[in-house]
Amino acid sequence: MRVELINGNKKRFLDLLLLADEQESMVDKYLDKGTMFAIYDDDLKGICVVTKERDRVCEIKNIATYEKFHGQGYGKKLIDYVCDYFKDDCDTMFVGTGDSPLTVPFYKKCGFVESHRIKNFFTDNYDHLIFEAGKQLVDMVYLKKEL
Ligand SMILES: CC(C)(COP(=O)(O)OP(=O)(O)OC[C@H]1O[C@@H](n2cnc3c(N)ncnc32)[C@H](O)[C@@H]1OP(=O)(O)O)[C@@H](O)C(=O)NCCC(=O)NCCS
Repeated sequence: MRVELINGNKKRFLDLLLLADEQESMVDKYLDKGTMFAIYDDDLKGICVVTKERDRVCEIKNIATYEKFHGQGYGKKLIDYVCDYFKDDCDTMFVGTGDSPLTVPFYKKCGFVESHRIKNFFTDNYDHLIFEAGKQLVDMVYLKKEL
């Protein structure tokens, strides 16, 4: 298993990026400035994009593993890798997600704790309603991890 830093043509991972963020125009807001990582175990399993938000603070903007490989540890491996990668440059890693049973428990398993919420983020910023596990996503839930 290996994690690679991806420098050029990040859009070739669009299928994975859209699993985590289903509107391409939203992905475009952070993809160029973000640092992208891909995890391989023989072949590609997942990706993660992290941005530097301000002094000593970074944020996971996108993380996804292919559905048939969920629950096999690749997501957590990516989180551990990016947290280690940014720990000299940053003190805190944030991640924002919908209030969903498919993502919040995963981040908590990876050592994140709830920080704050942005009310109506999904209804204000996306051009369509977003549902996950049968539930409409409305607020953005921010979690954080000290590095
Ligand atoms: C969220 C996601 C990246 C998790 O990746 P993954 O490779 O399945 O996660 P892992 O196998 O590394 O799981 C790590 C731990 O979290 C747990 N976990 C993962 N998803 C969970 C869930 N929905 N509920 C409870 N626990 C969960 C795993 O059981 C595992 O626990 P363990 O360490 O005790 O075994 C993956 O489900 C995904 O790509 N989803 C679609 C895209 C997406 O929604 N991205 C996040 C956008 S905010």
